[in-house]
Parts: sequence; C-alpha cells; structure tokens
Amino acid sequence: MKEATSNEFFTDWKYAPAPESTDHIKLNKQYDLFINGKFVKPTSKKYFDTINPATEQKLAEVAEANEKDVDLAVTSAKNAYDKVWKKMPAKERSKYIFRIARLMQERAREFAVIESMNGGKPIRESRDVDTPLAANHFFYYAGWADKLDYAFPNKKPQSLGVAGQIIPWNFPLLMAAWKIAPALATGNTVVLKPAETTPLTALKLAELIRDSGLPDGVVNIITGFGKTGAAIVNHPKINKVAFTGSTDVGKLIQKSIAGTNKKVTLELGGKAANIIFDDAPIDQAVEGIINGIFFNQGHVCCAGSRLFIQENVADIVIGKLKQRLETLIVGDPLDKNTDIGAINSKEQLTKINDFIKIGIDEGAEMYQSSCSIPSKGFFCKPTLFLHTSQSHRIVQEEIFGPVLAIQTFRTVEEVIEKANNIPYGLSAGVWTDKGSKIFNLTSKLRAGVVWANTYNKFDPASPFGGYKESGFGREGGLHGLMPYLSF
Ligand code: NAI
Ligand code: MG
Repeated sequence: MKEATSNEFFTDWKYAPAPESTDHIKLNKQYDLFINGKFVKPTSKKYFDTINPATEQKLAEVAEANEKDVDLAVTSAKNAYDKVWKKMPAKERSKYIFRIARLMQERAREFAVIESMNGGKPIRESRDVDTPLAANHFFYYAGWADKLDYAFPNKKPQSLGVAGQIIPWNFPLLMAAWKIAPALATGNTVVLKPAETTPLTALKLAELIRDSGLPDGVVNIITGFGKTGAAIVNHPKINKVAFTGSTDVGKLIQKSIAGTNKKVTLELGGKAANIIFDDAPIDQAVEGIINGIFFNQGHVCCAGSRLFIQENVADIVIGKLKQRLETLIVGDPLDKNTDIGAINSKEQLTKINDFIKIGIDEGAEMYQSSCSIPSKGFFCKPTLFLHTSQSHRIVQEEIFGPVLAIQTFRTVEEVIEKANNIPYGLSAGVWTDKGSKIFNLTSKLRAGVVWANTYNKFDPASPFGGYKESGFGREGGLHGLMPYLSF
C-alpha cells in the first residue's frame, strides 16, 4: 500500500481491480434452437460464433435458423396456443410467469455475468439494472394475467395467437422480458429471436423456461441474423410482430406486413434532448447527463445524446462535465468499478468512430477524456462535441455510442423548438427547480417518455415507446398489454 505523502497519490490514484468471478457460470460450447420445449439441431446445420466484445474471444457457437427452422418454431407455438395455452385458466398461466420471475431471481448472478461477457456492458449495470428489471417485468405481468377483464372492463379482451418477437443487442435479457412477459400474460405464445451478437442470455432464458415446466412450445427461442428475423415476420401463422431495433429495419417490417392481418409494435431509434435550465440542481444534472449517455456505452435507444444547456450556466455545466468525464473508468465490463464497458461489436465501433470524424469535419469542437482504453476489444473514449448546431449530422442522427452533442439555448420556446426538430421522439429529460416549467415542457416535448430531474429510470408499471420515427405502440404497464389483445 502506497503512503499518502506525495501529490501523486491524489492525482494518479486508481481503484484496485475488482473483477466479478466467472467460475459460477455454465456456458455450453454449442447452442441449438429452443423449439417445442427442447434444444434441437438446426436443419440448416449452420452455426456461428458469438464473442466477448471486451476480449474478442469466442464464447460459444449458436445455431443459425433458416426458413424451415422458423416454420418448425412457429408451428410449435401455434400448436401450443391452440391446444394448451389459450385454454388454460388465466390464474394458471399467471403461476408459470411468476415461476419464471422467481427462477430468474435465483439465477440473477449468472445472467448478469453472461450479459456482461456477451454484450460488453458493465457488470454494475447488468447486475443492478438489467437482471432485476427483467425479473420484475415477469412479476408485474404475472399479476395482470388473471385480471384482464378488470384492466379493460366491458371490452372482452382476446389473445391474438403467435407473437413473433425480434430484439436488439443493447438490453438482450431485458428486451426478452419486455417481449415475452406481456405476451404470455395475455394468453399468446411466442417465437423470439435475440440479436446475432448477444444470443447467450436469451438461450440461458430458454434453459430456465424449460426448467420452469412451462408447457412445450409456449415460448420458442431461435437464433440467427436478419434473414431469420425476416422469416419470422413473414411467416403466415404469425399474428403479431414486436420489434425493437433500428429504424431502417422497422420500416422494412412495416412494409412487409402491410396488407396482412398482423398487428405490429415498433420500438426504434432515438436522439433524446436532455435540457438543463439555469435553476437546475447543477451537480445532480451533471450526474444525470453522465448517466444518460455514457453509462452502458450510449447503447440506449432513449440515451440523452443531445444536451441543451441554458446559456448563462453553460460554462459551469461544461466545466463540471469535463471534470466528471475524467473520472469515468473505461475498461473490463466484469470489473465492478467500470463505468463504460465494451462497444457491442466491431461494426458498431466503426459506426461510432465514423460519426466522431463526421463531427470534427462538421466543425464541432471535440473533447475526449484523457483515459486510456484497452488495446484488445472494442472500446471508445467518452466524447463531447461542443458548439454543435441543429443541422449537424451528429445532432440529427442516432450514433448509439458514448458521444454527446452539446448546444446552448436562451428561452423555453427556443429549446422546445430545437428539441422537437428531429425525426425521433422517444424520450427527453428536463432539469429545473420549477414544477411549472416541468409541466409546461412535458406537454410540449414530442417524446414518449420525459424524465424530470432524473434520467433513464424504468419501472415495469410505466409504459415506454415513441413518437414519429421512434416507432409506435407501448411496452410496459397496462398499455403494454394492449398490443397483444384484440377487443
Ligand atoms: P438491427 O435493427 O439490424 O437489429 C435488430 C434486430 O433485428 C436483430 O435481432 C437483427 O437480427 C434483426 N433484423 C435485422 N434485419 C432484419 C430484417 N430485415 N427483418 C427482421 N429482423 C431483422 O440493428 P443493428 O444493425 O444491430 O444496429 C444498427 C443501428 O440500429 C444501431 O447503430 C443503432 O443506431 C440502432 N439500434 C437501435 C436499437 C434500439 O433499441 N432502438 C437497438 C439496436 C440498434
Ligand atoms: Mg442491422
């Protein structure tokens, strides 16, 4: 232990490494498709590697489902729907969903570690946010299953059939929970496809579902790329599509189901405005800005990726933000002190770096933390862009990385105009001491969620979803039941 006598101690101190152990987790070398309650070999006979983005090491290989495999999965879901699930008393359905939630709590540590290994997110996030929220989602919807007639009085809610669910890589387990829990509670069966870079926690969930005794075929989990996703969307026995991912794929899905009877919800990109007024609690706001865009590597559709600071406090806020940026720890996702883990894939890192170049070329002033980043794996320094304007691409387009575009404003009208002048409308944040200002803004900001004096807070009881190109339909809460029902 070094003595605290030299200045060096104060300027160059570090946390000791505190990595979470990985010896309690069990990963197979190879994963098959979870269809009709069993893991089965893909008829495609194809497998692809899934890696740890922090080390670039292979973790396992997973099956690639082709159209035939998709058909087997959808058929199994349809049979389970007709023969078992839709006939089961709602109270019994509820017990299964509750059991899934309990098992997830029991295995929380394993889920958290695998989530960080396969996705790159800091263990602090996967342990304290993703996994408990995923379990809570199942608990919450277990409670609704036998109360649908009370949720929608006099409307006679009916299940739809088979839900095809396609999810992204930024919250692999949580998105699986957001999709599966309300579908089961409303009496539907499921075919779910995780993203190609993060299949492992969904496959662990498949093992858990098998162990829970859920009737065979009620949930099927199959892996693959975009082509597999498209085959699910286009399968004639799919009654409802739930998608979270890029706006481009969302548009493709909408086109391909046009003219069919399929119901759809799309949760797409975002470019949230985080707005700081001069009467805001500045230190809390700075922490909210950091939490909004840098934790989780900015891989959050509702990330506060545009910052608007009222002009008279801009220097103070930016000064504090730069100081705080210096203290952020970038590195090993499994280390409990890590704030910013690995970027999910090489492709995503390339996209982020391209946007950083675009920002510089557009004439914005770049500021990065002086931290070092690991030489192996996919990492990105937390980055600020100052003096940006509405027309800049780094202000208009979703980057999905730890990159913050900063603008200043003078009046409330100006900031509302700028915040709304964007193709997206998923979320926003407001920081001010005045409740009246909050109410004024929340009614004028065109965003599905507006946080006030906090950011990125989630609860299963609260609906989530977008305006404009951020998609439509709501997940979570009572609203989250509706897309899975007909009335
Ligand atoms: P993506 O939209 O291609 O992938 C999301 C899911 O859709 C994956 O499971 C993928 O296999 C599947 N998919 C791809 N093409 C499909 C198709 N034609 N039909 C059906 N399913 C299909 O997203 P990608 O390429 O991984 O990321 C690109 C950008 O999208 C990111 O840089 C980010 O800006 C945005 N994004 C937004 C997310 C959000 O939460 N709103 C999540 C992930 C990415
Ligand atoms: Mg894509």
